[in-house]
Amino acid sequence: MKNEKYYIDNYLERYINYQYKTNKNNKEVISDVNCNRDYEYYSLNNKADKQLNNLILVNKYYKLDKDYIPNDLVEIDKKYSVKGSIKKEVNNSFIKMCDDALKLNLHIINASPYRSYERQKKIYDNYYKEKKELVEQVSARPGYSEHQTGLAMDFRNLEVDIEDFGNTYEFKWLLDNAYKYGFILRYPKGKENLTGYNYEPWHYRYVGYEVAKYIYENDITFDEYYAYFIENKKRG
Ligand code: DAL
Ligand code: ZN
Repeated sequence: MKNEKYYIDNYLERYINYQYKTNKNNKEVISDVNCNRDYEYYSLNNKADKQLNNLILVNKYYKLDKDYIPNDLVEIDKKYSVKGSIKKEVNNSFIKMCDDALKLNLHIINASPYRSYERQKKIYDNYYKEKKELVEQVSARPGYSEHQTGLAMDFRNLEVDIEDFGNTYEFKWLLDNAYKYGFILRYPKGKENLTGYNYEPWHYRYVGYEVAKYIYENDITFDEYYAYFIENKKRG
C-alpha cells in the first residue's frame, strides 16, 4: 500500500478500516479515503480554505459560508457568455480560449458563471421539486457549489442542448486543450464516486496552468489532487 502513488501516511488506519469494510484494492482505497469517501457526504462540515485562491476546494465535504462572495469578480463580455460575472483571471483565460477555439470554427460560450449562495439555493430547490431522486447527483446544495467560488463555468455550444454538449466538437477540443488555459473537466466520467456528481461534460473549473496540466496528464480529479498536494502538504 505504501508504494501507491498517492499514499498518505497519516491515513493508514483509515485505509485499513475502509479496505476491511469494502474489499476494494489498494489504489481504490487510497483514492476513496483521500477524497474522504470513508465518511458520508456532507458529514464533515469542513470549511473551504479561501486563502488558496485558484486552488480552493468546494465539494460535499468542504463548504463556503452563505455570505462568501469572491473578490475580483468582473462582468463577462456578452459575446462569450450569458449575463454574469467570474473572477478576473478566469475571465482573461476563458476569453483567450474562446478566441483560439473560434479560429478553428468552434463556438464556446459560458452558460453559467458565478452563482451566489441564494442563486444556488434556487437551482437546488427547483431540482428538488422536479427531480427529487436525482438532485444530489446533479446539483450542489447551497454553500457546496463551485460556482460560488467564481472559478467554475458551464460551457455550451448554442447549437445543441447542454445535455448533448459531450457530443460536440467543442467538447472534444476542450478535453485536450482546456488545460492549456488553466481549466479542468471537474466531474469526469467514471469518477462519480470521488466527485460526488454525475458526469458533467460542460462543467469546467479554473485552477491555473500548472495544476491543470498535472491533472490532465495524470488523469485524476481535483479532489484527489487537493488531498495529496495541498491538504497533505499543509499537514507538513
Ligand atoms: N452542477 C454542479 C455540481 C453544481 O451545482 O455546482
Ligand atoms: Zn456547473
